[in-house]
Amino acid sequence: MTDLRPPLPPQDLEPYWMPMTPNRAFKAAPRLVVAAKDLYYTTADGKHVLDGLATLWCVNAGHCRPRIVEAIRRQAGALDYASSYSLGHPLAFEAARRVVELAPAGMRHVFFVNSGSEAVDTALKIALGYHRLRGAGARTKLIGRERAFHGANFGGMSVGGVPANRKAFGGAMLPGVDHLRHTQDLATRAFVRGPAPTGAELADELEQRLIPLHDASNIAAVIVEPVAGAGGVLIPPRGYLKRLREICDRHGILLIFDEVITGFGRLGQAFASQYFGVTPDLITFAKGVTSAAVPLGGVLVRDEIYRTFLEASEAGVEFFHGYTYSGHPLASAAALGALDTYAEEGLFDRANQLGAYFEDGVHSLRGLPHVIDCRNLQLLGAVELAPRPDASGARGMEVHVKCWDRGVFVRPMGDVLAFCPPLIVEKRHLDTMFGVVAEAIRAVA
Ligand SMILES: Cc1ncc(COP(=O)(O)O)c(C=O)c1O
Repeated sequence: MTDLRPPLPPQDLEPYWMPMTPNRAFKAAPRLVVAAKDLYYTTADGKHVLDGLATLWCVNAGHCRPRIVEAIRRQAGALDYASSYSLGHPLAFEAARRVVELAPAGMRHVFFVNSGSEAVDTALKIALGYHRLRGAGARTKLIGRERAFHGANFGGMSVGGVPANRKAFGGAMLPGVDHLRHTQDLATRAFVRGPAPTGAELADELEQRLIPLHDASNIAAVIVEPVAGAGGVLIPPRGYLKRLREICDRHGILLIFDEVITGFGRLGQAFASQYFGVTPDLITFAKGVTSAAVPLGGVLVRDEIYRTFLEASEAGVEFFHGYTYSGHPLASAAALGALDTYAEEGLFDRANQLGAYFEDGVHSLRGLPHVIDCRNLQLLGAVELAPRPDASGARGMEVHVKCWDRGVFVRPMGDVLAFCPPLIVEKRHLDTMFGVVAEAIRAVA
């Protein structure tokens, strides 16, 4: 029998080892949510909390949207699971067609996985495989960027630039990886609205330092987030991504955009690549593709990459890679429900309509105690607080907790608080969110 009542709060919190969570602190003061609708969570004690970060930058269509819920329900009763290993089911093909329809021109193939981390590791493997099939098997080096987050698996962790990962797992990173500098410079580019007018030349480091050091003939790919998210919402300087593209082109290096956060409407287009007018060779995505209702991720590839695998491989499996749940029917159904919702409600355009209002909201925090930067692009933004000398991150965490107590969820990344609301957000929600954040910042010494 189906029981759709919200579950009672668990009696024992110990068995669940929570991810990316200070378990001791959480279990001493748990915050449990039992339901969600549109922009709001309902907590176990009946409070409503505005979701200012689309939870983890993923609930782009809002929570429990009818089309998505219905699509999942219907699919669960019709075909709960079918493998995509030499077997197919129509929904995965339809989901691929619909994603490709939204992709930049010339990217007509997509490989499905279950998460952003898997998408990144898959993209790195595609890059290596592509070069090998073209007779350029020496191209194995991968270039990431400082402060990048590309997921929790070994490939993504290695090209990523998260200090906590490097501290914990530094000895086990992939070999042959180097990093570009990140693009943030608070000394010269604080409180900039949108992309900074200067700083494109940071991309030249690829050609002036890393290519001479490693030699282009050894480099497979450069991977960047068009806007770095979990590293603190770092907006690329004007012209930076275009310059990276030109350098990669000159040297036969593949360019990967990790669009796990920026994909599916965050910047007012389906993908950031269209917003910036820069087309990479591969795009990784996840999160917003299903509005997070069922896990799904994927890699879009330029046509020539797909063709190379199909034409240059020996008979049999062309790309020896995949996951049990690649193209899962429920994930495919959720993707179709989400893509229908985005299209019917014009949600990708919301960032264009609300971007200026959102920008004013982010920058209204300037001048509050300890605020050292406000930054934004379309419906993505952040406020950065000065770290306490002896406790980096403590101030950000305290503001986050005070916001939660006042009914707003925004996420701290150290002393940076990020804003990334579901695309159904309205001005009144933004007023509430920035008003509460301002109160919380004032309340934290
Ligand atoms: C840019 C980027 N890539 C990859 C990932 C990893 O995604 P997942 O947590 O779905 O594995 C994230 C997660 O936030 C991300 O922001």
